[in-house]
Amino acid sequence: MKSYIVGNWKMNFSVGESSVYLHKLLQRLRGSRSLEVVVAPSSIALQPLSLQTDRKKIRLAAQTANSHDFGAYTGEISCTQLRGLVDYCIIGHSERRQLFHLTDKDVRATVAAALRNQITPILCLGETAAEHTFGETHDVLRDQLLGGLSEVSTEDLSRVIIAYEPVWAISTTTGAHLAAPEEVAATIKYLRQLLTDTYGADTAEALPILYGGSVNPSNAGAYLTIPGVNGLLVGSASLIADQFLEIIEIAKRVQD
Ligand code: 13P
Repeated sequence: MKSYIVGNWKMNFSVGESSVYLHKLLQRLRGSRSLEVVVAPSSIALQPLSLQTDRKKIRLAAQTANSHDFGAYTGEISCTQLRGLVDYCIIGHSERRQLFHLTDKDVRATVAAALRNQITPILCLGETAAEHTFGETHDVLRDQLLGGLSEVSTEDLSRVIIAYEPVWAISTTTGAHLAAPEEVAATIKYLRQLLTDTYGADTAEALPILYGGSVNPSNAGAYLTIPGVNGLLVGSASLIADQFLEIIEIAKRVQD
C-alpha cells in the first residue's frame, strides 16, 4: 500500500517563506509512486503554492475547511473554493476541535464536503490527556472514527485517510509526552479491528492510517514499522527541511 508523509505547517511561515521552503523541498526530493509527500501550508499560501508545486513530488493539503460549499460564513473557506488547489484536506485536527470548538457533526459534514469536491479527507482522531488517563481512549476513538465516516459511502471509503494523533503526544516540545510505539501499536490494532467489524476486512485493510504526535527523525522509524501504520502526520519537525527530508528518507527505507 502507498505510504504518506504529511507535514502540517500549522500557523507558521509567511506566504513568501512558504514558497522559499517549498522550493527547497522540491529541489531535494525525487518523485515516488509508493510514497506520497504532502504539505499543509497556511490557507493564504495555498493558491501560489498550487502553481509552484510539482505534484509528482509534493501535493498540497488544506489544514481545515468549512462544511458548506458557499454562503454567509465570514472568514471561512469551503472545499468548493479549495477544489483544484489542494489534493487533501486535514479535517478534525485536535487543535480545531479544542481551540475552535469543531464538533463531530462539523467533522462529519466536512469529510462529506471534501469528497464531493474531489479532495481526499485526512480525518484526524485522538484522545485528550484526561480521556487517556480515565481509560476512555477506545470509546472516544470509536465515536470520532465511525462518526466522522458516517456520511461516507462504502465506495468513497477508498478515498479517505485516517490520522491517529493522541492529543497528549502532540508538541512534546511544549510538555506533551511521547507515545510509546507499543501503545500506538495497540491503538492502531483496535482501529483496524473496528474498521473490519464495521466495513469488512477488504475495506478496512485498504484504508491508510497515519500516526502523528511529536514525530521526528529519531522516532519516525519506530512509528512507521508499527503494523497497520501507513505514514506520518508531522508538525514541528516538518518546519525544518533537514528533519522533514530525513523522515521522508526513513519512510522510503522502511518501504524497501
Ligand atoms: P507535532 O509533530 O508538533 O507534535 O504536531 C503533530 C500534529 O499535530 C500534526 O498534525
